[in-house]
Amino acid sequence: MKVGIIGCGAIANLIASSIVPEDNGIDIAYFFDKDIERAENLASLAGGVAVLHFDEMLNDVDLVLECASPDSVKYFAPKVLKQGIDMIIMSIGAFMDKEFYTEILSIAKENGAKIHLPSGAVVGLDGIKAVAKFGLKEVTLVTRKSPKSLGKDIDVEEVLFEGKASEAVKEFPLNINVAATISLACNKDIDVKIIVDPNVDRNVHEITAKGDFGEFKTITMNYPCSANPKTSMLAALSAIRLLKSFNETISVGM
Ligand SMILES: NC(=O)c1ccc[n+]([C@@H]2O[C@H](COP(=O)([O-])OP(=O)(O)OC[C@H]3O[C@@H](n4cnc5c(N)ncnc54)[C@H](O)[C@@H]3O)[C@@H](O)[C@H]2O)c1
Repeated sequence: MKVGIIGCGAIANLIASSIVPEDNGIDIAYFFDKDIERAENLASLAGGVAVLHFDEMLNDVDLVLECASPDSVKYFAPKVLKQGIDMIIMSIGAFMDKEFYTEILSIAKENGAKIHLPSGAVVGLDGIKAVAKFGLKEVTLVTRKSPKSLGKDIDVEEVLFEGKASEAVKEFPLNINVAATISLACNKDIDVKIIVDPNVDRNVHEITAKGDFGEFKTITMNYPCSANPKTSMLAALSAIRLLKSFNETISVGM
């Protein structure tokens, strides 16, 4: 499978350095970034081609992996999907725009393309998806972040946001991927609380789900990527797992 990457930052670097084509039949062949130097650096590390114009990769890839920004999803995803090319999208916050979500879904369907959204920086989405249509009554996400990560200097925890995911996206657009992914997984505008907590030094996500099935709670305490402290390593690892799964005969825990 030939893959092209949009956005050559922290996530792309981890992915490109972990995928060995001989091992799993995945060839990350093209690299595109609005900063061409980043694309060139990663292409030379990973043994691919850096393209100055995104369209240069379109005729030669089976899948496009976006790890750039929500705006890039809005700009590039329609072009890719119209060609019937599948996508993995990391900037999942883009889908909190309902109009865009509906539009992109119909473009993908009309052109026989698939959109894959990795589980990203949290665990527990397998359970959420399993129970989504079977009496799931309540889903909450509590995210704790260190004061440092938000440029704050405080000694006691402070609730920065409490409300629906759709509102959180407007106030904290850069922190919305996790809330967006959970909302999409269960097709609910979930309840979100964002807390700045002087007792944590990493991003901590606690998901609670309740319903006819019972109840579960997951806590993910993420270490950041060294190249981008705002991004959790687990997010990149979930994309690597997804990519590798395309060539597996047995899928476990999907
Ligand atoms: N799904 C999740 O759980 C999850 C977790 C962390 C990050 N993310 C998202 O993944 C994306 C990438 O994260 P990262 O840590 O690698 O970011 P990063 O800032 O390290 O790298 C992003 C790269 O994309 C490039 N870029 C940005 N907009 C572009 C555009 N319109 N066209 C071409 N290139 C563009 C930048 O120049 C940069 O090199 C972000 O949108 C981030 O919010 C998702």
